[in-house]
Formats: sequence, C-alpha cells, structure tokens
Amino acid sequence: MPSFVPHKVIFFGEHAVVYGYPSISSTVDLFSKIYLIPNKFHYQQTPFVQGALKFLNKEDVYVKVESNVPSGSGLGTSSMVIIGILLHNPELRGERLAKVAYEIEYSVQGLGSPIDTSTIVAGGFVMTNGNYGIPLWEITKNDKKWKFTNLPGKNLDLIIVYVGNKGSTKEQVEKVRKFMNRGRFAREIMERIGEITREGASAIVRNDLEKIGELMKENHKELKIFGLSTPTMEKVIEIGNSYGYGAKLTGAGGGGSVIILTEERDKIREKLNELNLQFFETSTTSVGAFFK
Ligand code: PMV
Repeated sequence: MPSFVPHKVIFFGEHAVVYGYPSISSTVDLFSKIYLIPNKFHYQQTPFVQGALKFLNKEDVYVKVESNVPSGSGLGTSSMVIIGILLHNPELRGERLAKVAYEIEYSVQGLGSPIDTSTIVAGGFVMTNGNYGIPLWEITKNDKKWKFTNLPGKNLDLIIVYVGNKGSTKEQVEKVRKFMNRGRFAREIMERIGEITREGASAIVRNDLEKIGELMKENHKELKIFGLSTPTMEKVIEIGNSYGYGAKLTGAGGGGSVIILTEERDKIREKLNELNLQFFETSTTSVGAFFK
C-alpha cells in the first residue's frame, strides 16, 4: 500500500521567511504515491530516502515513487519523499511527523526553513509566523522559531508552470543573504514582502481573487530585484499577468516553477504551449499527506 503525498506551492513570503517574516504556502492537488517494497539488495537511493529509511529502521527496502512532478521543480519533492516514507509508520502523524521530517531534511541540506515539510503534513493554506488562522504547531532549530497556522480559505485554481530545474535552494538563499548584508535597501524589500504576505492572508480568507493576484504580481517584482527570476520565468509571468489574475515564481527561484492564479485557462494554455513548457492545471487542496 502506498502513502499519498501532495506537493506544495508558496504563495507569498519565500526568502523573507528565512529572516523571520511571514509566509503563506499551500498543498496542491498533485499527489505522488510512495511505496516501500521489501528487497534485500541495497539500491543507490538519495540521502533524503536514506535518512527517512534509517529513522524507520528499515534497511532492506526499495522506495518506489510514482509522480508526475519533476524533482527540482520547487514544489517540495524532497519533503514529499521523506514524508511519504515516514507515513508508513502509523505512529508518525501530525506535529510529530512534521518535526521528524524537518530534522531529516535539515540534516541533509544543512539549511532551510520547515515550511515545505509542515505544509505537506498539515494540508491547506499554511501561514508561517503570522497571527491568523487555527494554530498548528511550532518548530525551533538553533536560535530560530517558526509558528504554523492553518488559514481558512476557498481552494484556488492554479496553473503551475515548470520552467526547468531550479538548482540549489542554498545558492538562491545565499544570493539573497549577500544583499541583506549590504544594507537597508534589501531589508526594506523584505519588510514590504512581509506586508504583502499579511495582506495576502486576509485576501485568501475573503477569497478576493483580484487582490490575491495583484499581491502575487507585487511579490514577484520584489523577488526579481534579488535576481531570483529568469528570462523564461519572465515570459511565463507576462502570460500569467495578462490572461490570469496574477503570477509569481514559487519557492527558491532561479528556475523551478511559476504559479498563475486563473479561472479562464484556454488562452493561457495556448500561450504556454507556444513556449513548449510543461505545466499542471490544478488547484490548492485542504488535504495533507495520508496513508489509507
Ligand atoms: O526550494 P523551495 O521551493 O523548497 O523553497 C525554499 C523557500 C525558501 O524560503 C527560499 C527557503 C526556505 O527554506 O524557507
């Protein structure tokens, strides 16, 4: 029996969340299936897979992942795999699952916030470091603390466009850190992203699509200043802004994926096909990772 694990997108606040500002992420209706298949031969498996199997004390197992989502898409693939494996232990659920999954991800990556792991476990709109919504849990690491809440909100229709492998999150986080070390200008951008995210929370709760789209556009412009967009991303953003409510990069940037908030899909589909890019027509979901 497999576990079923959704991917995630970040609507607002990526990168700013690294400096204690809020973010809003959500699970999307793209689920991967994770099977643990007994096998006494050892396979070459990724460090994330190895970390999760080690935690479960399962060595002689082959991990089969059934997924349409490419890794490196910025849609939480590494968290998805870790959580999908851990779910095979019935004692790992909710807060405990989120915490163990983050520890494993952190031990491999050596950096990063727990927003991917907590979002995929909780499901729905997840706000980090905000004072809105239903409390979930808190996670601390070194001197940092993240507080998670679930925001009530209607599901949103999205087109997620994969623009090519995003490369390392670490590189993008370090790029931003250089700006932050240089002075006030970068801090002011982060302040503004914080405001956008808080306004975004209220727009999601009101289901104000025009406003959510407008804030996405603005958040993208701020991220672009840090050099996190790419020429292909910009082509997709232009399509999303012209024919949808708004678009932005999601996740670390430098490649990966763009999200477009949309109701009317025909024109966008036609334009994206001209660019020959892979895309997913989907929506947010209130469902988190589960094992039947
Ligand atoms: O690389 P992704 O898509 O999981 O996004 C990372 C989000 C950042 O805010 C850039 C980093 C972090 O760990 O929060």
